[in-house]
Amino acid sequence: MAERKLTLTDSESGKTLDLPVVSGTEGDPTIDISRLHPELGLFTFDPGYGATASCKSDITYIDGGEGILRYRGYPIEQLAEKSSFLEVAYLLLYGELPKDTEFARFERDITYHTMVHERINSFMDGFHYDAHPMAILSGVVASMAGFYHDKLDVNDPEQRDLAAKRLIAKMPTIAAAAYRHSMGWPNAYPSNSLNYSERFLHMMFSVPAENYEVNPVAAKALDLLFILHADHEQNASTSTVRLVGSTGANPYACTAAGIAALWGPAHGGANEAVLNMLNQIGDVSRVGEFVKKAKDKNDPFRLMGFGHRVYKNFDPRATIIRKACHEVLDELGIKDPLLDLAMELEKIALEDDYFVQRKLYPNVDFYSGIIYKALGIPTSMFTAMFAIGRTVGWVSQWLEQSATPHRIGRPRQVYTGAAERDYVSIDQR
Ligand code: ACO
Repeated sequence: MAERKLTLTDSESGKTLDLPVVSGTEGDPTIDISRLHPELGLFTFDPGYGATASCKSDITYIDGGEGILRYRGYPIEQLAEKSSFLEVAYLLLYGELPKDTEFARFERDITYHTMVHERINSFMDGFHYDAHPMAILSGVVASMAGFYHDKLDVNDPEQRDLAAKRLIAKMPTIAAAAYRHSMGWPNAYPSNSLNYSERFLHMMFSVPAENYEVNPVAAKALDLLFILHADHEQNASTSTVRLVGSTGANPYACTAAGIAALWGPAHGGANEAVLNMLNQIGDVSRVGEFVKKAKDKNDPFRLMGFGHRVYKNFDPRATIIRKACHEVLDELGIKDPLLDLAMELEKIALEDDYFVQRKLYPNVDFYSGIIYKALGIPTSMFTAMFAIGRTVGWVSQWLEQSATPHRIGRPRQVYTGAAERDYVSIDQR
């Protein structure tokens, strides 16, 4: 069969150009436009990159129309039910599910990299007690390059692998320390006898005065949330990590940039914004008022946790979290009126023409905050929780990019400013 191509004709010059159509293993075909500018002197204009593939990747596949999410080919529903966060981390990093010896080695490597240098704790002390955890996280992660500067050769696969493991291992330690800093509690060191999610809960909530027993229901729920947040192909924070990585910057700088991008309320900051919004709505009787506000084009208010650039049917992660939310609250014996409020808001919005026409559905973060709240995690920490899970995706994508030939990421623009003009001296203006 002849190779598929797209033939363009420039109405001005009359020139034509055949553009090859590239197909991946799954997903919509993509036009390779790399010859467009050299041949026709034209760029493409795609603000927000709604129609642009920035790279080839083997890691995560999403079909937004069908509500499909797969890590390395495995459906998110199966991983959520049967796997663990650390196993998913191995899968995303190395492409295959680990055999038991491989997993044991990986788990040990992660466990033995969870401590941070004592000076990092001193660095953290410089933050004011009410600093946002994401400010601490991005600052401290960027500073890690200064602690491991002898292992920053991005062209060395072994050093890249070590940095990836350090980031996955230390992110919960730093996030928990950021919380403890806000509480004025002494640091809690990571415990090697616990698994990844248990260890995080222990570092968050244990105090020197008494024994802290990790609740297995809480640890399991957290593990699930980390799995669901682990990767999401070329989202804003991951694209940021890749863009920064394309310059050859070190992995700590790339990840700090990813954390900064995640912080925004249109991205990972939405989970914090959802809970603030539910608190602001306060009562089921006020849901209609807020839905009306969200539809009003003169009002900047949006229903947080609703809508997604890619999912136009449903977000499969939201379906899993919604179910888990009920189970976790039941198992922990918690009755949270915010869950009733969220369900009512979801029901009314899903029946409303405005949301139906625009295909706006609850996303991953509509229900996650209610689970975090049930686990005792404060609202200001929600986006940091997302960052812990997503670190695996960031470093997997960074490793993939670093191991393959790539060019520096450098988009172009449509210039709309002043045409050339002559300088006028200040007394003549
Ligand atoms: N509430 C009300 N209206 C909305 C919402 C919302 N949450 N989301 C989108 N819309 C409307 C827009 O106003 C626009 O309407 P129009 O066509 O009449 O102008 C239309 O739906 C399309 O929205 P866009 O902003 O063009 O969609 P985009 O793909 O650029 O944005 C985004 C996606 C950022 C997620 C958006 O839906 C949003 O802001 N949602 C709320 C924040 C949120 O939950 N973010 C988390 C995303 S998931 C994640 O990162 C973990």
